[in-house]
Amino acid sequence: MKRRTAVLISGRGSNMAALLANAADPAYPAEIALVLSNRPEAPGLELAARAGVPCLVIDHKRFGPDRGAHEAVIDRALRQAGIELVCLAGYMRLLTPFLVQGWAGRMLNIHPSLLPAFPGLNTHARALAAGVKLHGCTVHLVTERIDSGPILAQAAVPVLPGDTETALTNRVLRQEHILYPLTLALVASGLPGRTDPGTALLNPLPPETRAA
Ligand code: GRF
Repeated sequence: MKRRTAVLISGRGSNMAALLANAADPAYPAEIALVLSNRPEAPGLELAARAGVPCLVIDHKRFGPDRGAHEAVIDRALRQAGIELVCLAGYMRLLTPFLVQGWAGRMLNIHPSLLPAFPGLNTHARALAAGVKLHGCTVHLVTERIDSGPILAQAAVPVLPGDTETALTNRVLRQEHILYPLTLALVASGLPGRTDPGTALLNPLPPETRAA
């Protein structure tokens, strides 16, 4: 049985698209059963709709500063859709303990850095400014402290001489699109188990270096 998975987005949705593309494989252990956006204008919604995935907009602006009320509606929608796993993919809202605790161990996020380095925003510019030689992305479980939950998987890329922020962003993003589907597959097939979430570490190779 495929795990019913929701993807929460706020924008472009390229990670969502990568999850959808992988989930199209009949052998993939998760099904993207719902795409939910807090922004009606998120370009990712159109991608999801074109792929025939049920989409829902729950606009946070309708709720003013009441994050709890917004999340209560999201939580209800997830449960009504029979969702088992939630993937945050460029979902740009801070979550309250209500949603985080309600989905503990079942909510994943992708972050564009090798956590615990560079939590928060503007990770690529900060990595360049810090002069790190390795950068990358992390898939982790969501906990109440932002970008701090147990790490499930990471992919590293080199920072090359003369790199621009755009070049580095794109290099990391290519890895995100490999790493997130692999990690969701691991979690959806029960590895790592929900009670022992921190045991898997992936080092996906770029497609061109994989064995045929
Ligand atoms: C990605 O870099 C992801 O790591 C971060 O937000 C960005 C979302 O991009 N959390 P997209 O909407 O998936 O294209």
